[in-house]
Amino acid sequence: MALKITVIGTGYLGATHAAAMAELGFEVLGLDVVSEKVEMLQRGEVPMYEPGLEELLRKHVAGIEGSSGRLRFTTDPAAAADFGDVHFICVNTPQKHGEYACDMSYVDTALESLAKHLTKASLVVGKSTVPVGSADRLAARLAELAPAGDEVELAWNPEFLREGFAVQDTLHPDRIVVGVRSERAEKLLREVYATPIAEGSPFVVTDFPTAELVKTSANSFLATKISFINAMAEVCEAAGGDVVQLAEALGHDDRIGKKFLRAGIGFGGGCLPKDIRAFMARAGELGADQALTFLREIDSINMRRRGQMVEMAREALGGGSFLGKRVAVLGATFKPDSDDVRDSPALNVAGQIHLQGGQVTVYDPKGMVNARRLFPTLGYADSAMDAVRGADVVLHLTEWREFRELDPAALASVATTPVVLDGRNALDPQAWRAAGWTYRAMGRPAA
Ligand code: UDX
Repeated sequence: MALKITVIGTGYLGATHAAAMAELGFEVLGLDVVSEKVEMLQRGEVPMYEPGLEELLRKHVAGIEGSSGRLRFTTDPAAAADFGDVHFICVNTPQKHGEYACDMSYVDTALESLAKHLTKASLVVGKSTVPVGSADRLAARLAELAPAGDEVELAWNPEFLREGFAVQDTLHPDRIVVGVRSERAEKLLREVYATPIAEGSPFVVTDFPTAELVKTSANSFLATKISFINAMAEVCEAAGGDVVQLAEALGHDDRIGKKFLRAGIGFGGGCLPKDIRAFMARAGELGADQALTFLREIDSINMRRRGQMVEMAREALGGGSFLGKRVAVLGATFKPDSDDVRDSPALNVAGQIHLQGGQVTVYDPKGMVNARRLFPTLGYADSAMDAVRGADVVLHLTEWREFRELDPAALASVATTPVVLDGRNALDPQAWRAAGWTYRAMGRPAA
């Protein structure tokens, strides 16, 4: 009989995982404590912007015309415990207030509320990003609470999906990593991922701590790559070099690779910044803090880029104060193809300029609702054109395709001063200059 799957937590990770599991042919029950979210999902609506997710969800949610009917949602942990053979924990692990460590309370609560109803053989699989050592602790807690005793087991299966590509990354993962303690757990997870494995996704079997570490070290490596190229951008700025050409030339070396070498205002979002901080905090607890002191530098290079962008804007406005200056900001989300503004470098820069007296007007294709909620005091416009109208300087801070497709000549005709600062090295300098703009980018010489 086919396995039945539950997914606990229906945020970016959980909603995508639930829909993907239904797409792979399983009967799926999604569980969340927020009833409004459950009701929305049950209507086939996704509470965030993620390309392709709503379509996938509607293809499977029971009750939607023409759907497979394999996917349902509930707020009842007892129903979830009763339904599933495999339970995926997909709740978030945010940074604790005022600390580097991550807040494990959602994972702990999710596991505990499920465990006490587990009366039949089942596998509980952690997917959330957690400090190394958590799986060990959670396995002990599960053994304590689950009425089915030994019949219930834990496994760890980190998730590497990127926002904006969540559906594709979940259905066709680069690799599947599972931390297991028994052949039975491995066998169940091979069954769950049979399709991607058959399509060529490598399946890596490890112990608990290694599985947990794959995730935090992967994100640390990615953060390091970005801060490395941003450090090179700083050197290029001082030496008159061009970081875009430098990155291209470096990327031709297969050992280095082209990806994640885009210099600009740095990384943000709900993962990289908090994950490297939580990793440092955990290493400290383990007495291995020296091994990760370099991550502090990675973080500090990253945060410096935001300040550097503010200074570039100040300089473009003639130095001195932002008071009375009109600054157009293109982009609010931490990356394109997402509506996520968590720790967004773009909004951070916009906020800093606003706090220094600049009149900031932000436009973003999908992030306006979240940006307004987070920074209600900034100005907002309904289009790039409206944001740029009357601007003394334009900052390009999130590299949406929509911004690359703008007509620089039309924008030049409405700006007060046609100066654009490209914080993502993503616009075409020649096209903007040809349309009359002064184009400046991070880590590149002025024309
Ligand atoms: C990241 C990891 O990539 C993913 O594997 C993990 O599961 C979750 O964290 P995500 O947060 O969706 O995914 O974003 P990612 O594409 O990694 O980008 C993170 C940030 O780095 C963005 O702000 C992006 O603009 C920035 N970035 C990325 C750069 O500044 N330069 C680059 O070259 C690449």
